[in-house]
Amino acid sequence: MSDPIKIAPSILACDFGRLGEEVRTVAEAGADWIHVDVMDGHFVPNLTIGPPVLPAVKAATDLPLDVHLMIEAPERSIADYVANGADRIGVHVETCPHLHRTIQQIHGLGKAACVVLNPATPAESIEAVIDDVDQVLVMSVNPGFGGQAFIESVLPKCERIRGWIEASGRDVDLEIDGGITTETIGRARRAGVNAFVAGTAIFGKRKEGEPLPGLAEYREAIQNLRRAAEA
Ligand code: DX5
Ligand code: ZN
Repeated sequence: MSDPIKIAPSILACDFGRLGEEVRTVAEAGADWIHVDVMDGHFVPNLTIGPPVLPAVKAATDLPLDVHLMIEAPERSIADYVANGADRIGVHVETCPHLHRTIQQIHGLGKAACVVLNPATPAESIEAVIDDVDQVLVMSVNPGFGGQAFIESVLPKCERIRGWIEASGRDVDLEIDGGITTETIGRARRAGVNAFVAGTAIFGKRKEGEPLPGLAEYREAIQNLRRAAEA
């Protein structure tokens, strides 16, 4: 596995009242990508942010925005996300009946195309497009919320997909999202994953009355994840 480890903090777990500052701080703390969770309240049972929020994130960092679309019919709004600053676009295979066309659409806009699989979606659902994508994202929780427990049974699926990537000889990132902590990241790494989304493990669980975490805490959290991934 040649790919260096990438850590993608999920802003879902940050303080939205200080969005720009949180993004700037986590970038300074050593993040590689900024992971943006877009939820529509239909495909997943939660509603988050849409295109108008992306420029605020973009203005705070030069890091690539890794935009995870948990929305029905993503092809209708991909252009909006790109126009507002998305660099990498992830679409769920469960939402794309014309998956190859949607990947072409993302490439046509000059951006990196990522296909995303829910925990119960088999690896085979993306086998036919492995030579066309830049990134595969395996969900290790059912999408919709941060702070859920890691689903171990997705690891064999990661191993299989890594095998296909190696066979293709192309430089494709294999990312995992959900329940990534210093406890779980090593197992995902050994299953062939090289990019790790982490919300709660970096931004922490906010508690009333406690001081807000900042640069030192985020830097330590990111370093601990990198160390645990290589252990
Ligand atoms: C879940 C989102 C994740 C989430 C991860 O639907 O796609 O990106 O923010 O949060 P943690 O790391 O807390 O599981
Ligand atoms: Zn996500």
